[in-house]
This record gives sequence, structure tokens and C-alpha cells, in this order.
Amino acid sequence: MDAREMKIKAAAAALAHVENGMRLGIGTGSTAEEFVRLLAEKVADGFRVEGVPTSERTARLCVELGVPLKSLDELPELDLTIDGADEVDARLTLIKGGGGALLREKIVAAASSRVIVIADESKLVDTLGAFALPIEVNIFGLVATRIAIEKTASKLGLSGSLDLRQSGDGNFTTDGGHYIIDASFGRIPNAEALSSQLNAIPGVVEHGLFLNMAALAIIAGPAGVRELRATR
Ligand code: 5RP
Repeated sequence: MDAREMKIKAAAAALAHVENGMRLGIGTGSTAEEFVRLLAEKVADGFRVEGVPTSERTARLCVELGVPLKSLDELPELDLTIDGADEVDARLTLIKGGGGALLREKIVAAASSRVIVIADESKLVDTLGAFALPIEVNIFGLVATRIAIEKTASKLGLSGSLDLRQSGDGNFTTDGGHYIIDASFGRIPNAEALSSQLNAIPGVVEHGLFLNMAALAIIAGPAGVRELRATR
């Protein structure tokens, strides 16, 4: 089974959790897009959902495939969000933001009664941090914010390159008009401490550590699909 087939399997298993009439947060990334494709087939057969997309990219795909959309202001309380992840640990703490949508993804997840993560098994890790942590920052004061992130990380014993994400000829800009610094810490043994201390830096808009948000992870591998539940 190749990577795409695993993503489709995880997405199909997640679809089984979606009920007729649900208000649904719809994630971003290649795995979430497989979910959108499968959802669109059900919608074409008469299944009713109202989706809130977590990015302009996801919104475009939903419109193209006929998945009905609302804004989060129109639907501020959601039944379920299905989204991908860059890393998932055994407690279902996540690193997200590889696709640059972490801010809207976190806002949508926080507005959801339940969050299900879908991924192939390459995303499962013992300790978070091999994937560079995306940190969304305000463009104003970028250099000062970068220094503050470096100092904060250092106090927690973390170091590594802090790279301003690039896209084409320039800096990658998020849907919210911010930049992303990808922090290559290697290992993040204490995600809670890093999360709260990053949140205390004024120029940090949001970061890609998702703590206590996912209730279930649907992980697809060559041997099939398994479900991991959050132990909280
Ligand atoms: C986007 C994300 C994605 O969910 C994450 O990057 C995983 O993407 P993919 O399914 O393509 O591996 O957080 O901001």
C-alpha cells in the first residue's frame, strides 16, 4: 500500500464517524483532501453536512467538489473536525502546520465538540519534534520575535535552526497574512511547557503544538487501519 492509499484508508475510516446533518470542521493537507473527496461523493448521493474549512485551499477544493460550506462565524459550534497532522504521539498531542494552516486549524478544532486526526503511520512518533515545529508569527517585529523564540526555547533546553518558511520567490504567507518560522528542535520532551511559553511571546500568533484537542487518531498502515484514543 503506498502513502496515498494509506491516507485514503484513514480518510474513509473517519467518514464513518460523520453523521447526517453534522456541522463539520474540515482540515487542510493531502490527507484531509482525501477526506474531502470521499465526503463529496457522499454529499452527491444526498448526505447532508455543513462544512467549515480550515484554509482557503480546503475551501477551494470543497467548492470545486460541491461540499456545502459555511464560515465559522455562521457555524461557531461544530460537532466534529477531521484533520491531518505532521506528528502524533501516544497521548494524541500533535504537531500541525506543515501546510501552513495551523491558526485556522486550531481555532476550528477548539470550536469542535470532537476532533479526529487522520494520518498514515509515518506520522506516529514516540517524542514530538523531529518534524520542525511551525510557529506562526506577526510580520511586525519579526526579528525580535525570532530572538524571543530562541531565548524561550533555550530556557527549556531546546535549540535548533529557526527558519522563516519560504514559498516560491518569497516568504510563505498564511491565510491570516502572517509568516511561519519552522523550529527544528529535534525533540520536544515537554510540549506543555513549550506551548505555554511560546503563547506568552507577543509576536507569536499561534504554534503548531495541539495539546488535548484530538479525541481519536485514525492511523493507516500497510496492515490496515487502527484507532488510537486519547488517554485523558
Ligand atoms: C496543515 C496541517 C496538515 O494537517 C499536516 O501538514 C499534514 O498534512 P498531510 O496530510 O499533507 O501530511 O497541519 O497545516
